Amino acid sequence: PKPTIIDCDPGTDDAIALWLALASPELDVRLVTVAGGNVGLEATTANARAVIGLTGRAVPVVAGAERSLLADFRAEPAVHGTDGLGGVRLPDGPPLTPGIAADAIRDLLRAAAPDSVTVIGLGPVTNLALALATEPALAGRIAEIVLMTGAWSEGNITPAAEFNAWNDPEALAMLLNLGRPLAMATLDLTAQAFVTPDLVARMAERPGGACWQAALAILRALPASKRFGHRGYPLHDPCAVAWAIAPALFGARHAHAEVDLGSGPSRGRTVVDRWNRLGRPANHSLLETLDAPAFFDLLAARIAALP
Ligand code: BDR
Ligand code: CA
Repeated sequence: PKPTIIDCDPGTDDAIALWLALASPELDVRLVTVAGGNVGLEATTANARAVIGLTGRAVPVVAGAERSLLADFRAEPAVHGTDGLGGVRLPDGPPLTPGIAADAIRDLLRAAAPDSVTVIGLGPVTNLALALATEPALAGRIAEIVLMTGAWSEGNITPAAEFNAWNDPEALAMLLNLGRPLAMATLDLTAQAFVTPDLVARMAERPGGACWQAALAILRALPASKRFGHRGYPLHDPCAVAWAIAPALFGARHAHAEVDLGSGPSRGRTVVDRWNRLGRPANHSLLETLDAPAFFDLLAARIAALP
């Protein structure tokens, strides 16, 4: 299994993504770091602890960024509820592991072999940027960075920008310029993974343990996202985890992308050169298509097998 760090801001879809990762033998999740984002840091860390606690696994959860490099995070209570899990109550999890996320990330990378660690980012990537800014040589320990971030068409928090990218564009720009393999699951990809009431009803026929029951409750609590013309809620973050465990579910292309760091209306927009108009070297794998039925089957089979 791939040694894996997950940096997240749970977050309804982060919770499902964490369960999918912990249920998957392809990954050895060694560290979960948490930032504010969907809700404040106190709630995102409590949620990460509870989600992991329900699996019975002892994965260290370390708190990190309370704000982005340049500003406060803007939360999304309309999507994730004020508690971050759509009002779904979980038993309290084990305590936080003491320390700061960026230090924990660096400690893990320092002890790892070159090109060995998979880093999955499911929120604003402030913690990852801080870790690598303070010891850039550790980037060489990373096998791949997989991010749920950005969009090649339009955004969700602004017309131009996706929520995670918008919440810390400078941190995202740093990762895109790192020169390490990086994959992006954008809004255009996750809009192929809609959760609808029919889908959840079919999934609920599958028996499973406490994690699966909690995952179903969270899936039922997701908003319909009709205001974006969607027919369900795009299950964003699990798509990034799915790339790390089952890349055959995706169609991808190498492309160049950059993040708008200006202060105007396009701040945080990921400008993706899908057709190589600029002739610049590719800096990421753009995940373009998803076999959604196979994705949801995999997700259900894996999470239903957890305790
Ligand atoms: C991203 O923003 C958050 O609301 C979700 O957890 C996901 O990471 C989607 O834009
Ligand atoms: Ca998230």
